[in-house]
Amino acid sequence: MTPGTKPLVAGNWKMNGLRSSLDTLKTIASGDAALAGKTDMLICPPATLLRAAATLCSGTVLRIGAQDCHPLPSGAHTGEISAAMVVDCGAAFVITGHSERRDFQNETDAMVRAKAAAAHAAGLVAIVCIGETGAERQSGETLDVLKRQLAHSVPDGAVAASTVIAYEPVWAIGTGLTPTTHDIREAHAFMRAELVSRFGGDGTNMRILYGGSVKASNAAELMAIDNVDGALVGGASLKADDFLAIAAIYETL
Ligand code: PGA
Repeated sequence: MTPGTKPLVAGNWKMNGLRSSLDTLKTIASGDAALAGKTDMLICPPATLLRAAATLCSGTVLRIGAQDCHPLPSGAHTGEISAAMVVDCGAAFVITGHSERRDFQNETDAMVRAKAAAAHAAGLVAIVCIGETGAERQSGETLDVLKRQLAHSVPDGAVAASTVIAYEPVWAIGTGLTPTTHDIREAHAFMRAELVSRFGGDGTNMRILYGGSVKASNAAELMAIDNVDGALVGGASLKADDFLAIAAIYETL
């Protein structure tokens, strides 16, 4: 943890969830009441559920976010959703540059940066995802990749209140594998130094999440690592009990 920052436990539902899944959100939102409120909690459901989710969670501490947005505010872009539309649904966050979008939708750092800038302009908090592939880790390029992705995916003018970095090693997503504590500490310390050198005090306070196979059984160990300010959780965010168990561990800080 970074002293003075409030941890963020964020769930990314990816392309999962129908209207019946709103019951899961209801359970998470009411489970929050049992926690001490020391952790920010966020779920990013599919776009089809954004409005209903935001309405359901309004007045609770559970925040709602989108999984992507288009860089432009409106226009002829069939199938896309703008940051203003995300705000209009009642959501407060948006994930940008998740590795699945970088991979399957060929999103470049420049596109991710434009999306995060659009999110900021609309008043959303952007969760900018970065992380090396397995091949990049094998060939010792991890820190070079993180340096490049941070420099080119995070827009100028990012401040701690508007921006969260999510370090997600691509090879750790959905695989049950996680880097060693040593490797996570090294990566997060490196990202912190890069953020401080570019953004000064905001770089000191910008939250850096770890993501990739986070579950209740490893959350305590991850939380204890310097500069790990929360988690971006995929699979384990789909079940209310699993997600709340992770959030509860962060509450013990
Ligand atoms: P996972 O996904 O927790 O299922 O590994 C993490 C993510 O993609 O954000």
